Formats: sequence, C-alpha cells, structure tokens
Amino acid sequence: MLIDFNIPGVSFFGAPLPFDSQLENRFSHLLPPSMANVAQVRKQEFIAGRYCAIQAAKLVGLELAKVPTAKTREPVWPEGIVGSITHSKLLAISCVSLSQHWSSIGIDAEELIDPALKADIESLVASPVELKYLRSLDSPIGLTVLFSGKEALYKALFPLVRTFIDFKEVKLTNLDADMKLFELELISSNESLAGHVGRYQGSFKQFGETIVTVVSIPRPMREGSHVDS
Ligand SMILES: CC(C)(COP(=O)(O)OP(=O)(O)OC[C@H]1O[C@@H](n2cnc3c(N)ncnc32)[C@H](O)[C@@H]1OP(=O)(O)O)[C@@H](O)C(=O)NCCC(=O)NCCS
Repeated sequence: MLIDFNIPGVSFFGAPLPFDSQLENRFSHLLPPSMANVAQVRKQEFIAGRYCAIQAAKLVGLELAKVPTAKTREPVWPEGIVGSITHSKLLAISCVSLSQHWSSIGIDAEELIDPALKADIESLVASPVELKYLRSLDSPIGLTVLFSGKEALYKALFPLVRTFIDFKEVKLTNLDADMKLFELELISSNESLAGHVGRYQGSFKQFGETIVTVVSIPRPMREGSHVDS
C-alpha cells in the first residue's frame, strides 16, 4: 500500500502483516540461505520488508532485484540510494530515496506501548527531563513516538557513523502531536559521533495501534551554497 509522509524525494511502501501468502511465495527468493532455519514469522517479516523496499524503489524509478543485509544487520542499498526498513506485528514499511536528496533516512514502526510495560520502557529510553516534558504534553502517544523516533534516528545515523548509539545519548527536544512532528538532539560525547551532534527533525503517523516515525538527514550544505542575507 502507498503511504505518504510528504518528505520531498522519499517514497514509502507498506504491507500489512501477517504477509500475504501468495506474495510471500513469489518473493521467497529474497530470503538469504542464512535465514533458512529462523522462525516463520521472522521469515515473513523479512520478505515483507524487502518486498516493500523493492516497491518503494520502483516509485523513485529504480528496479531493485534484492536488498542484501550487512554483517551489522542494516540493509545494503546500491550506490546512490538511501533507504530503511521496519516491521511491527501488523505492518512492514520501507522508505527509499536517491542520495542526491538525503544523506540518510530511517523508519521505525512500534505498537502503542502497553501500559504494563510503560515503566520499563521509560527507564530504558528516556531521561527524567524527557519524562517531565512528556508528562507536560499529556499525550497518549508521546512515549511511543519518543521510543520509535529514537530508533528511526538510529537507523538513519548508523550508515553514516557505524557505531552503537544509546537511547540516553539522544534527547527529545520537541513533539508536536497536532502537526505530527518531533525533534531529537544527539547529545553524545562519543568521539565517533563528533560532527553528527545536533538536532534532527522527524515526522510520524498513526495507523490504528501502530506509530510509524521517520527521520531524514539532509545532505550537508556545500561550501558557498548558502544564501547571503
Ligand atoms: C536496530 C534497531 C533500531 C531495530 O529496530 P527494531 O524496532 O528492533 O526493529 P524494526 O523492525 O523496526 O527494524 C528492523 C530493521 O532495521 C534494519 N536495521 C537493522 N540494524 C540496522 C542498523 N544498524 N542500521 C540501520 N538499519 C538497521 C533492518 O532492515 C531490520 O530489518 P531486517 O532484519 O528484516 O532487514 C534496534 O533493534 C536497536 O538495536 N536499537 C538500539 C539502538 C537505538 O535504537 N538507539 C536509539 C538512539 S539513536
């Protein structure tokens, strides 16, 4: 299914999970031999994610035969392409763009956080300052957007920095539930992340019980390309 986040140059494609069995058979060649013995549900989400990536790539005019997986688990896109894949229990989605438009993109889908797990998730992903901010917003989706948004940012940053980033190295600085926008700040002192600290813009959508967040990282401005005031 077509999905639109209104991000210039980025195409999205989604598929409901459990994945359609006919499509699963048709695209089963996308499953690498190393995954022959994984659980059926994992095979399904993997094939559905790859199917979505191939469809999203078609929307930007590219025919992808496959999307391999790196040793560090991220999808490997052909030169000149950036993209990301996510799957929740109910949905697989991929987004793809030409790298002339964006340095990198990340997408993440999460089911709304179960109230029984709220305290555990809060202590894993948020600081006391962020929790105070979320309480001030009083939004039923706030914690899920924070959690998912940080994972989307991780997926966007990882191909650029190739290092692990903890949830506490990123801070939620704004969440606008009406405009469906958020802002995260990378505040890490990890040397591998120097040059990437700063603020990142994201957007989200809700599909039933699922929140989908996207973070797109702009290409650096070329020297001399700024507009004089
Ligand atoms: C990698 C991670 C973000 C995946 O998120 P998830 O909610 O568990 O799973 P999702 O279904 O949304 O995404 C899985 C897909 O992400 C992609 N992915 C995996 N590792 C990745 C990486 N290092 N970089 C970019 N994409 C990655 C893969 O396409 C994977 O699907 P596939 O195995 O079928 O190809 C998560 O497991 C993780 O390790 N998080 C800890 C780090 C973090 O999020 N820090 C936040 C602060 S920046």
